[in-house]
Amino acid sequence: MPKRRVRRVLTIIVVGFLVMAGGLVAVGAWVWTSARVNTIGEVEFTNPLAIPPLAPSHVDEQGRRVFDLEARPGRHNFTNGEGEGAPTWGFNGDYLGPTLRAARGEEVVINVHNGLGEHTTVHWHGMHLPPAMDGGPHQQIAPGETWSPTWTIDQPAATLWYHPHLHGETLRHVYRGLAGMFILDDEESSALNLPREYGVDDLPVIVQDKKFTDNGELNEDGGFFASLGVLGDTIAVNGVVGAYQEVETTQVRLRLLNGSVGRVFNFGFSDDRSFALIGTDGGLLTAPYELNRIQLSPGERAEIVVTMEPGERVTLRSYPPDLGNGLSDRFAGGDDSFDVLQLRAADRLRDSPPLPDRLVEIPRLDPDEAVTERQFQFSGHSINNTRMDMGRIDEVVELDTTEIWEVHAIDGTPHSFHVHDVQFQVLSVDGQAPPPELSGWKDTIYLHGRQVYRIIMRFTDYADPNMPYMYHCHILYHEDNGMMGQFVVVEPGQEVGTPPVSDHAHRHGG
Ligand code: C2O
Ligand code: CU
Ligand code: CU
Repeated sequence: MPKRRVRRVLTIIVVGFLVMAGGLVAVGAWVWTSARVNTIGEVEFTNPLAIPPLAPSHVDEQGRRVFDLEARPGRHNFTNGEGEGAPTWGFNGDYLGPTLRAARGEEVVINVHNGLGEHTTVHWHGMHLPPAMDGGPHQQIAPGETWSPTWTIDQPAATLWYHPHLHGETLRHVYRGLAGMFILDDEESSALNLPREYGVDDLPVIVQDKKFTDNGELNEDGGFFASLGVLGDTIAVNGVVGAYQEVETTQVRLRLLNGSVGRVFNFGFSDDRSFALIGTDGGLLTAPYELNRIQLSPGERAEIVVTMEPGERVTLRSYPPDLGNGLSDRFAGGDDSFDVLQLRAADRLRDSPPLPDRLVEIPRLDPDEAVTERQFQFSGHSINNTRMDMGRIDEVVELDTTEIWEVHAIDGTPHSFHVHDVQFQVLSVDGQAPPPELSGWKDTIYLHGRQVYRIIMRFTDYADPNMPYMYHCHILYHEDNGMMGQFVVVEPGQEVGTPPVSDHAHRHGG
């Protein structure tokens, strides 16, 4: 080849390479930039917050408190206004469900009717109850059928919630709107001087991120970086986008529930004011803690009390959450910020009583009493390298024993840990004492980075060798893809049975 031609070919190759590299950098920069969502200052709070109604109930001849829920399709307007709205699902309504409320010691019956065109289940997240009543993947309700679980409430006052748990379909069912709060009361908490007027100074705040299509329907598509399933760019509180709430008292209690399918929120206020954290997943703390941020992963709850000045407006925000996995957190919502809910104080406020210094006693579980230690490593869509199999029991626990579980994520991506039936206590995080928000009863925790969480729990009351409880990642896309395991609680010496194998194929088009 003549020299000039060689040079020209080389030039073409070099230029071509540079153009390609430049293109990649540009695409990379675009991907990086567009992966961040920030709605601070951009939300007009023009829509009154909806307060889910308290579910009506009656007491039957046997003295049991009876609730009726129906899961059904509907249409919901996310701006709480007129107009057709988007196709959604809800309990007893178009989107979300009523707040169930019961007191410790009460026996409840919940008639759950399935008015959807497909199977579902309803799980009572955070509840201590028999496995057959738990509403996990084994308690399927066929279309048109009614399932009526019953149990006695026996745990401290807390903010729990309910949602479907159909294996492989949980994300879709929750995302469409099937979720609601379940508030428990007890004598100890009722004796405390805390804001407690539902919908007035005690507000349910179910926060969910949503993605809409151009014609205003819910977009269930994960998109290209769908490692957490659907991450939305719009926040709905109790199903309302751009919501504000009028406040009439100097203190308001917010029962925060992260009802998202995959997004972690880091709540705080627009002026960085502090608030009192008074409760976590399974109940009140021993004392209020002043904080100015509270991070919640999907499924976690926090009860906070915020103090208001007459006439002011303050916005509940979500600041970038600390996910613990470095640069890749960008694609998991780690750099995202949102305006969530505006609180508007009236010009004259009724004085709330000062917060009590002490709240409740939390009996500490004793690590010396633990009979078993188990390890759970979270990676990809597996726990201990295993994916969910409805026919396999992964762990066997003996009734009336205390156990220590050590859980951690090892793959540098976001995961969380949730276990059914029990509330646990966090003994340590990477060997350190847990922070205030992990100091009380918990049923769901975010697994930060590669930190090792040692948790302790006690299994009481309900042995059933055949019917398992679940433990899983509460990022629903992971759960649906198999990041879940099953445990049974057995009497001492009792043989492990086999889970009932369902004849219904749970995976379908939808
Ligand atoms: Cu909130 Cu097993 O679920
Ligand atoms: Cu649960
Ligand atoms: Cu996960």
